[in-house]
Amino acid sequence: MKRSNLRYIFMTLIGLYSHFTCGSGEECRSSMYPPKGPTFRGNVTWYTVNLDLPPTERWTHVVKEKKAELVAMIQSIKDLAGDFFHGKLIHIVDKELPLIVDTLPSPFREEIKGIAAVSDVPLGEVVLFNIFYEIFTVCTSVVVEDLKGNIYHARNLDFGLFMGWDRKNQTWTLTEKLKPLVVNVDFRRKSRTVFKSTSFAGYVGILTGIRPKEFTLTMNERFNIDGGYIGILEWILGKRDGMWMSFLTRRVLENATSYDDAKDQLALTKLLAPAYFILGGNQTGQGCVITRSRINTLDVWEIDLMLGRWYVLETNYDHWEKPFFLDDRRTPAMKCMNKTTQANITLQTIYDVLSTKPVLNKLTAYTSLMEVSTGKLESYIRACPNPCTPW
Ligand SMILES: *[C@@H]1O[C@H](CO)[C@@H](O)[C@H](O)[C@H]1NC(C)=O
Ligand SMILES: *[C@@H]1O[C@H](CO)[C@@H](O)[C@H](O)[C@H]1NC(C)=O
Ligand SMILES: *[C@@H]1O[C@H](CO)[C@@H](O)[C@H](O)[C@H]1NC(C)=O
Ligand SMILES: *[C@@H]1O[C@H](CO)[C@@H](O)[C@H](O)[C@H]1NC(C)=O
Ligand SMILES: *[C@@H]1O[C@H](CO)[C@@H](O)[C@H](O)[C@H]1NC(C)=O
Repeated sequence: MKRSNLRYIFMTLIGLYSHFTCGSGEECRSSMYPPKGPTFRGNVTWYTVNLDLPPTERWTHVVKEKKAELVAMIQSIKDLAGDFFHGKLIHIVDKELPLIVDTLPSPFREEIKGIAAVSDVPLGEVVLFNIFYEIFTVCTSVVVEDLKGNIYHARNLDFGLFMGWDRKNQTWTLTEKLKPLVVNVDFRRKSRTVFKSTSFAGYVGILTGIRPKEFTLTMNERFNIDGGYIGILEWILGKRDGMWMSFLTRRVLENATSYDDAKDQLALTKLLAPAYFILGGNQTGQGCVITRSRINTLDVWEIDLMLGRWYVLETNYDHWEKPFFLDDRRTPAMKCMNKTTQANITLQTIYDVLSTKPVLNKLTAYTSLMEVSTGKLESYIRACPNPCTPW
């Protein structure tokens, strides 16, 4: 019996409901770019994080500006958790998670402590916030090569599944609270950009990032398999020989110097939970989806022009298996990619694909577009007014 069966049962019920009330998809979108209209909520603000500063001070200016939004987000998590566990969970979070912070690797523990100090949010709750994304994120990522050999990488970040449905506004409570926290970050050393990322204020890991001229990287959750979160539990209980997934992606963006170097590090490091790493390089053929178990790499699926595979696209299911039938964002996304054709693929037309329901859905917090050759990272806060599927 699969660990995630409960999740499937839950998704089945809500999925069937939405299938009949909202419809399941739509024709491929076109001319959505530049972003405008009801599915565009706003631009994302840029911040600089100076890696030459002591870790505890790096996020001070970001957290100061986003403090109110961060407190509101964490309060929502607490409200929801309180509903589930009659308040016991938050007691554990406030008492036990602060102890865990010292087991996290550097510089993450110092950065998290710095964020807690500036925001006045209890340390355990900032730790919780940083762990949360490892667990409740569903997404779509794609790496594409055009006819000239340019590599593009884009993603929708969908967050907050089952985290409180706001019946009045027809939105997911946590998804809405998260949107004001989305920030673009330019990580610099000696005043020069090392890498750039779209992230959340208060969060130190990386889900979306680019090392200009070298590689691009996104991470998607891989939840539909056995063994899911045992590693995270083990960490909390004291067995600590795996790496947090989003800490690894950040370490790779900070230190890896090429596509191949990044690929090796993502494939070989032991993890706390399974994941998909989606990596783009700067040369023809350099784009792949790395399917990870905690220990091994199960599969590396690469762009292969000889086979007519000019893009690789990942949602939250192994590419060699069918997606869960009530959560099939892959088929509509691929249909629209195929319809666009390699001849007509640009960041603009990729934005069209990522704006087509249900690839765009009520969980979608932001859309990011990256172009490695120019170092471009553009992100947009999204909305999905009705009719729109819950995921
Ligand atoms: C290419 O994409 C543009 C923008 O979406 C569209 O207007 C045009 O019709 C497309 N051309 C082809 C050949 O599909
Ligand atoms: C977003 O940024 C673009 C380009 O800088 C600008 O033209 C547009 O007005 C901005 N939109 C909003 C809603 O701020
Ligand atoms: C619901 O929508 C209204 C109007 O857009 C907004 O003012 C309110 O804050 C929303 N409520 C929540 C819980 O997001
Ligand atoms: C691609 O990346 C490699 C390794 O980082 C670098 O040496 C090379 O100059 C890059 N090529 C281009 C065209 O930017
Ligand atoms: C898209 O094209 C690829 C490659 O030709 C093919 O394998 C795939 O089945 C197509 N998918 C859809 C949904 O049209």
